[in-house]
Amino acid sequence: MRTVSWEGDAVRIIDQRKLPLTLEYSLCRDYGEVAEAIRDMAVRGAPAIGATAAYGMALAARQFCGLDKEQFLLKLEDAARELASTRPTAVNLFWALGEIERVIEENRGRDNESLFLKIFEAAEKIAGEDVLTNKKIGEYGNGIVPREASILTHCNTGSLATVEFGTALGIIRAAHRAGKDIHVFADETRPRLQGARLTAWELVRENIPATLIPDNAAGYLMKKGKIDLVLVGADRIALNGDTANKIGTYALAVLARENQVPFYVAAPTTTIDFEIASGEEIQVEERDRKEVTHVGGVQIAPEGIGVYNPAFDITPARYIKGIITEKGIVNYPYEGKLDHLKG
Ligand code: MRU
Repeated sequence: MRTVSWEGDAVRIIDQRKLPLTLEYSLCRDYGEVAEAIRDMAVRGAPAIGATAAYGMALAARQFCGLDKEQFLLKLEDAARELASTRPTAVNLFWALGEIERVIEENRGRDNESLFLKIFEAAEKIAGEDVLTNKKIGEYGNGIVPREASILTHCNTGSLATVEFGTALGIIRAAHRAGKDIHVFADETRPRLQGARLTAWELVRENIPATLIPDNAAGYLMKKGKIDLVLVGADRIALNGDTANKIGTYALAVLARENQVPFYVAAPTTTIDFEIASGEEIQVEERDRKEVTHVGGVQIAPEGIGVYNPAFDITPARYIKGIITEKGIVNYPYEGKLDHLKG
């Protein structure tokens, strides 16, 4: 299932806000619509956001092709700024925009139409490589999944969060396809319920045995010995291995340590921020209070209550047994190992 693609002169996305009740595709016809789709989480998940933003730049190039060269380049800069302002934590967004910026720099001398084509090709490459990369993560990750295993996962790291295959959920998919006897426990993932709405939907679609649990049941299950492995994704990984991922991940990692359950992060190397030494430097997005005070449009908390709604947390590297990438598995401790994965 392809989450994002180019269709005609538009970017086609799955509107993830409508799932699991409706599988609806929608077309973004200009870069502003792409930015809005990312900001409002019609598209979400670090690799999917990156690829969608790259296509957004191709749309901008298409839109402004008719302008004179100087105006055209200025419009591309505006588009890159607007897309970069949508969500701050997932580094894949900035990585993908950086790749497009490099292509613009290298091809500045070309006419607008051929520069558009170069940007479009770069966006297609980013999307295509994400699919291949995820499959490799699936192969490496399958290696650490026992023949029989009960796996806990958080948020959505599947097809929907990437271009097609998924990271942590891609490993689960690979293990299931390899005939392993796995059972998945999916955290519902308050407040946006990516686990209940999206992961559960993907698991049911693929007939992978799974059980949905409230987030706060995870510790109880681990204590009872019901979980063999925790597999999560990442939005940004610092060079020391500290990992930003969906809020609640840190609590899971601590619980996993307490209960001697191996805790792994699965992510493409495009999720590693090679510029930062530790998680201290990661900006954590804070989202609207309504995500907490309302469920499915129904108000569940009184007016006037204060709300704090961080979308991510940072798991210190020492809780993470290994980081599964398309280039192999890197085991803790990470110092001096992750920077070798660059390029
Ligand atoms: O706020 P979201 O839904 O974009 O957050 C997504 C996550 O935290 C995922 O775990 C992460 O992006 C990895 S997806 C392969």
